[in-house]
Amino acid sequence: MHLLLLALFVSIAILVFKSVHSIIWVPWRIQQHFKTQGIGGPGYRPISGNVGELQRMYAEAQSKSMGGLQHDILHRVLPYYSRWSGAYGKTFIWWVGTKPRLALADPEPIKEVFLNTGVSYDKVGFSPLTRPLFGDGLGGLNGEKWALHRRITNQAFNMERVKHGEEEKLTVQEVIDECKTFYFAGKETTGNLLTWALVLLAMHQEWQTKAREEVVQVYGHTMSPSADNLRELKIVGMIINETLRLYPPTQTMSRVSTKNVMLGRVDVPAGTEIYSAMIGVHHDTQIWGEDANEFNPLRFKEPRNQLGSFFPFGLGPRICIGQNFAMMEAKIVLAMIIQQYSFVLSPTYVHAPTQILTLQPQYGAHILFTRI
Ligand code: HEM
Repeated sequence: MHLLLLALFVSIAILVFKSVHSIIWVPWRIQQHFKTQGIGGPGYRPISGNVGELQRMYAEAQSKSMGGLQHDILHRVLPYYSRWSGAYGKTFIWWVGTKPRLALADPEPIKEVFLNTGVSYDKVGFSPLTRPLFGDGLGGLNGEKWALHRRITNQAFNMERVKHGEEEKLTVQEVIDECKTFYFAGKETTGNLLTWALVLLAMHQEWQTKAREEVVQVYGHTMSPSADNLRELKIVGMIINETLRLYPPTQTMSRVSTKNVMLGRVDVPAGTEIYSAMIGVHHDTQIWGEDANEFNPLRFKEPRNQLGSFFPFGLGPRICIGQNFAMMEAKIVLAMIIQQYSFVLSPTYVHAPTQILTLQPQYGAHILFTRI
């Protein structure tokens, strides 16, 4: 009996020790590790991390509209990021349960992490919530399997079929998973881009007029815009880029360090999730100037060095495989609509951008169209 009690006591003691170790000691040590390097954050709370605060901030942000048509949307779309980066600086650490996340918003470390994916960093796999949407497709794979899938699926986006020395094939299930990925990664994002481009052009009539003049100059009033002559749609291209800057369909991107690594002067332990708030970078006045929150497609008139400061399609080896396809699709659809319709915001439109996986208008995009 005594022995049984002793065994029970030892088991409970081990369990308590393990829990204290993983729930208190490890996070505290990691937090100290970053603190000594000058990186602060909202502070670890046992078990839930900062998830409770984060959810409260979301609920509060979503309960109010923007109160106007301005594009300063960070505080509504990513309220926790907006608040914590304001309080702790662009690089800070926060907690999802017992897992640390290092937030980055400077172009240099962002380039370093995303260009080195596959070397010192890996993509974070899909969560149980997103996996059913994407399947086990390209976006959630790493290593050799990702490389094989990327080589094969890349062919679908190139006009000519690339021949490999050895025939490479995907199984039927793998093809199904890639189709799920393409469907979700391709349809949702491009749909959001077009939605926001229409909302922005309805808000900024002068740009709608300029874009229409260009479309009519290239295709006339009756010819359907097609893949030909798309290069000539310079203003439409600038408008699409400015839409992607202010209202990027994907707002954040993550990686995980696969080894202890120096990121600039920051010593990052293996297993740290690295989180870049793309939308924060896209709205940063230090990068884009005082008018960062204004809709000004002219900023894309000249080619600019924007690696790490403008990356709506990601960057590095995991850059969006459908980027060119999406840009072509968006240009054609936008040109077709602009050519045939003029449009304004409906009086019922409420400006309330929100993140539901992608960036969406919380109460819909109410736009009134008139056939030209
Ligand atoms: C406006 C439209 C789109 C936007 C803004 C967009 C955005 C992105 C971003 C930011 C990434 C990189 C994610 C990361 O590195 O963590 C990505 C990857 C990806 N996108 Fe897109 N995307 C768009 C359209 C499309 C289309 C049309 C397709 C396919 C038909 C597509 C398929 C993919 C796939 C498969 C990946 C994963 C690539 C890999 O990991 O190798 N996307 N996209």
